[in-house]
Amino acid sequence: MSSQSPAERADELRRLIEHHNVRYHQLDEPEISDAEYDALVRELAALEETNPELQTPDSPTQQVGAVPSALFAPVQHRARMMSLDNATSFEELLAWGKRMERFISGDVDYVCELKIDGVAISLLYEDGRYVRAATRGDGSVGEDVTDNIATIAAIPERLAVADAPAVLEVRGEVYMPMPAFEALNRKQVETGERLFANPRNSAAGSLRQKDPKITAGRELSFWTYQIGELVGGPAFTRHRDTLQWLAEAGFPINPELRVLDTLDEVHAFCRHWEEHRHDLDYEIDGVVVKVDDLAQRGELGSTSKAPRWAIAYKFPPEERTTKLLAIDVSIGRTGQATPFARMEPVFVGGSTVGVATLHNEDQVRLKDVRPGDTVIVRKAGDVIPEVVGPVLSLRPDGTEPWRFPQACPVCGTELVRQEGASATFCMNVECPAQTRGRIEHFASRGAMDIEGLGERTVGLFVDEGLLRDPGDIYSLDFERVRQLEGFGDISVRKLQDAIEASKSRPLGNLLVGLSIPHLGFTSSIVLARALGHLDRIMTATADEIAEVEGIGPTIAQSVCEFFATEQNRAVIEKLRDARVNFEGPAAPTEPQTLAGMSVVVTGTLEGFSREGAEEAIVRRGGKSPGSVSKKTTAVVVGESPGAAKLTKAEELGVPVLDEAAFVRLLETGELPQ
Ligand code: IVH
Repeated sequence: MSSQSPAERADELRRLIEHHNVRYHQLDEPEISDAEYDALVRELAALEETNPELQTPDSPTQQVGAVPSALFAPVQHRARMMSLDNATSFEELLAWGKRMERFISGDVDYVCELKIDGVAISLLYEDGRYVRAATRGDGSVGEDVTDNIATIAAIPERLAVADAPAVLEVRGEVYMPMPAFEALNRKQVETGERLFANPRNSAAGSLRQKDPKITAGRELSFWTYQIGELVGGPAFTRHRDTLQWLAEAGFPINPELRVLDTLDEVHAFCRHWEEHRHDLDYEIDGVVVKVDDLAQRGELGSTSKAPRWAIAYKFPPEERTTKLLAIDVSIGRTGQATPFARMEPVFVGGSTVGVATLHNEDQVRLKDVRPGDTVIVRKAGDVIPEVVGPVLSLRPDGTEPWRFPQACPVCGTELVRQEGASATFCMNVECPAQTRGRIEHFASRGAMDIEGLGERTVGLFVDEGLLRDPGDIYSLDFERVRQLEGFGDISVRKLQDAIEASKSRPLGNLLVGLSIPHLGFTSSIVLARALGHLDRIMTATADEIAEVEGIGPTIAQSVCEFFATEQNRAVIEKLRDARVNFEGPAAPTEPQTLAGMSVVVTGTLEGFSREGAEEAIVRRGGKSPGSVSKKTTAVVVGESPGAAKLTKAEELGVPVLDEAAFVRLLETGELPQ
C-alpha cells in the first residue's frame, strides 16, 4: 500500500466498495463481513478528509446503499432514506454525545434503540391503507416490494387510528427471527439447497422473491423505528411520542427502547446489550442512539449521507472472513473421526479463532468448503466457533471438493462410516488417539477426577508407554515417572495421592469414566443407582438394563456390547485388582426432593461445577437433561447462560432460577412462588 499514492488508494477503495455494495445490496451474497466493509469505508473517508481534493460527489462515502436492481420496479422515495454514522468504540460514541451536548442549547434526552440486523424498508399508507413498500436502494430510489411485504403478519394493512392521516411513510427493519432462520436452514439441508449465512441474508433473500408466496412461507417480522413523512396527522415534538403513536396505529415497536438522559446511562445500555445480544430471539448488531427532541434534531441537521442527531454504536463483529488452510480430521476417545478447519487466525466474537469443527462428512459436503477458500467464520456468544460457508466468488481456480480420508490419520486403520449414520469411526480400539482420549476422560473432573492427570501428562505417559488404558493408571510406574522431565518428588506424591483418592469415587463416576458409547452422565448415575454394583451391570442382559427407568434400548445395547468386549473386561479386572470402588449407593443417600422433576442447568454457577450441579439433581431423584422442553420443571441460570435455553424457557413458561433458588429447590423440592 505504501507504494500507492493517496489518489490511487482512494480510487482502489472506491472500486472495492462499489463491488461490495452490489454483492451486499443486490445479490445478497456479501464477500466480506460488515466490519471489513466498514473498515474500507472508514479508510476512504479518512483519505478524503486529509486530502480534500480527492473528494468526489459520487464517492461511496457520500452515498447510501447501492443502485436498486432491475428485478423490481423502482420507487422514488418521497424523503431520502439516509444511513447512520457508526461508532465502533465507546470513545467514539461519547465523543459524538459530547458534540451533541456542546452544540445543542438545553438538555439532551437520548432514545436508545436496538440496531436490528435486517433489511431497511419504507412503508407507505394513504388514508390509512397500506399502498406500497420499498427497499432503501441508494437512498433516493428503492425497489418496489409491495406484494412481498404484504405477506408479513406484523405489518398492518390498515392503521388502527380514528383519523387516518392522508399520507404516512413509516420506516423500519424487516428481520427473520432466529428460530425461523434455523428452521429455514434445516429445510434447505433437507432439500439440498444452499444454506443462508445469517438471518439478515435470509431476510433479504426472502424479500427478493418474484413470487410473494415464497416470501409468505418465510416467517419474516418487522420492527418500526421512524416516521419518514406524515401529512395530515398529529404534530409531534419528541421521537418517543412518534413511536408511541405508531404503536397505537398497529406497528410493532421494539420493547427494549429506553429514553436516557446521561451519556453514562447510554454507555451502560450499550454495554448491557453487547453482553446480552444473544438473549434475544432476533439478531442485533449494535445500538442506535438518537436525540429525542425533534426541534433539536432540526438544529443539528444532516450531512449528505446521515443525520447528525443519531449514531449507530456497532458491536464488535461476530463474523469475519479468513483463509481456510486445511481440513484435518481428529480422532476422539470413542474413535469418532471429526473433520475440522484450520484457518488463518482471525479475531472474531471476542477471541482469536484458528480452528473450528466441521462436525462430520455431510456437513463438509453441504457447506462445500475447500482448502484455499475464503470462508466466513462466526463466533457468537458462548457458542463454539463455526465455519458458516465459503465465499464462492473468491474461490481460487482448480479447487476440488474435500474428500473424507479413508484411513485414520493417527494409526492408519481404515475409517468406517456405518450406513444411515453421519459419523465416521476409526475402529482400532488401540489407536493412540483413542487411548489418550479415553484415559484423559477417565481422569477428568466429571469422572474419576484425578488431579494432575490432564491432557499433557496423559499424552506424555502414553507416548512413554506408561499407560495403555485407564486400568494402567492404578499400576503406574512412579519410579519411571520421577525420571521424566517436569516431575519431582512433590509432584509424584501429589499424583499418587490423587490416584489413590479416585479409587473411592461413586460407581456413577466410574461408569462415566469408562467412555461407554451413548452412556452420558445422567444415565450413568441412574444405572449405578438402579443396579448398585458394576458386576451386576456387567452381567445384566440388554433387556434387563432397558427396564431401568430413564435408560433406552440404544444405551442398554451399548452397555452390553461394551462389557462383552474382551479389552474392556481386561480394563475392569485391572480396576478390580486395584480395589477401585464398584459399588453404587444401594438406596439413595439424599432425600429425594426432586423425584419426577427435570431441571436444566445453563451457565456457570458459583458453588457448583456443571457436573456437580447435575449430580446434585440426579442424587435427589431428578433428571438433568441438556435441553429445555415442555417437561422441564425449571431452568437454573448461572453466569453467561446459553441463549437458546433461556429463550426456550421463556417461550414455554418454564420457571428460571438463580443459584440461591436452585439451592432451595435441592433442599426442599419447592419452586419459588
Ligand atoms: S434509524 C436516518 N433505528 O441501520 C437513519 N436504524 O446503519 C434512520 N437500523 O438504515 C435509521 N435498527 O436499516 C434506525 N432502531 C433503528 C435501527 C436502524 C436497524 C438500520 C437501518 C439503517 C441502518 C443504518
